[in-house]
Amino acid sequence: MMKCSSMHCHVVCLMVIMCFCGFGLAHVPAMYVLGASLLDVGNNNYFPKLSKANYNPYGIDFPGGKATGRFSNGKNSRDCLAEMLGLVPPRRYFDLIFHTNNTAEFLKGVNFASASAGILDSTNEGNCIPFSKQVDFFNETVEAIAKQIGFEQTHEHISKSFVVINVGSNDIMVATGDGLDHEEYAFLLISTLRPLLKDIYHLGARKFVILSTGAEGCLPKFRAKTKTGDCHFHANLLSKSYNMRLASLLEELQSTYDDFRYSFFDMRIAFKELYKNRKTYGFIEGEVACCGTGKFNGTIQCRVGTVPCSNRSDHIFWDCVHYTEEAAKVFMNLAFQGSTPFVYPINVKQLSELPPSYQSRVTE
Ligand SMILES: *[C@@H]1O[C@H](CO)[C@@H](O)[C@H](O)[C@H]1NC(C)=O
Ligand SMILES: *[C@@H]1O[C@H](CO)[C@@H](O)[C@H](O)[C@H]1NC(C)=O
Ligand SMILES: *[C@@H]1O[C@H](CO)[C@@H](O)[C@H](O)[C@H]1NC(C)=O
Ligand SMILES: *[C@@H]1O[C@H](CO)[C@@H](O)[C@H](O)[C@H]1NC(C)=O
Repeated sequence: MMKCSSMHCHVVCLMVIMCFCGFGLAHVPAMYVLGASLLDVGNNNYFPKLSKANYNPYGIDFPGGKATGRFSNGKNSRDCLAEMLGLVPPRRYFDLIFHTNNTAEFLKGVNFASASAGILDSTNEGNCIPFSKQVDFFNETVEAIAKQIGFEQTHEHISKSFVVINVGSNDIMVATGDGLDHEEYAFLLISTLRPLLKDIYHLGARKFVILSTGAEGCLPKFRAKTKTGDCHFHANLLSKSYNMRLASLLEELQSTYDDFRYSFFDMRIAFKELYKNRKTYGFIEGEVACCGTGKFNGTIQCRVGTVPCSNRSDHIFWDCVHYTEEAAKVFMNLAFQGSTPFVYPINVKQLSELPPSYQSRVTE
């Protein structure tokens, strides 16, 4: 049995997967990405007041060592997913809106994600583009495409494309007070998310890749807050409640709309696996952030000119709340080709291979 135990082998395996997927997935024409900092590639750079990562040492391992606005030392989950799918990486919305508006560009996919964004408009208000606003922008994008190529063709395109979403962590991060009822809060988040996902469906999306929240309480920022240095119990509980309800919401949407298709990646459970078997995955450090200061490098964030740890690829965490490129690769590899309990009811690769469901619906 071949086992991907060494780092070298791990990288080789990933490369084999990437080459393998270069072919054959052409029926997913594009990716439309919404959510927060794990997927943002620099939308916030365009606005002075929003949360940014466009300074060194962010991007230290990105091609050219460039700080692009990604909250990572290198590539992030959106980059890894696009590579695995063999897709043109979707450009940031404001890049397109401010410089082009060319429909051909919108057709290649768009990234609406904004760091600090939450499901609730009140989460980090003024520092981000909230999820609801991103859905409005997706609506405007679909309308702009439809104006150029017509309604039917637009819907066919959107229905074949992936809508990739990761949101919820910021809502959890701003709400870990001990008095909070976690079930009630998770219910509020899901009740707010439900109509927004329905809007995205009504705009033509049929293939959803939903990334859940991670083990939020194990982020260096939260470990730094506990006396023992253990994971923060309340933040983890909130994340678990939210993810369970999110999984149920997706089941509900699938039973409401018979052509709603999705792949749900449980990043909280994936993190537990990654942490527990970190050596197997090539990591040494799974608690302390590579860049930052204080306990677990989690009390003060990675700042302009902070000198990060020397070897990023043996750390799971890049800064107090974000993963390294290496960790993002492992996560997206699990989402792409893994199985239950990490990803279900089907993985991302299987979702990409499903025949489009929109056509059959219009001809019914
Ligand atoms: C693109 O369209 C938007 C919305 O209609 C508009 O606000 C913006 O100025 C346009 N940008 C360019 C470069 O034409
Ligand atoms: C998209 O925006 C239009 C207004 O421009 C609105 O009438 C429509 O309800 C929106 N669609 C969805 C699904 O949100
Ligand atoms: C903590 O962060 C500093 C930079 O702020 C870095 O030099 C150090 O290596 C980090 N510690 C670990 C264990 O990664
Ligand atoms: C960095 O970490 C990786 C993964 O643990 C390891 O394979 C590699 O040898 C390390 N590089 C250096 C220069 O220490």
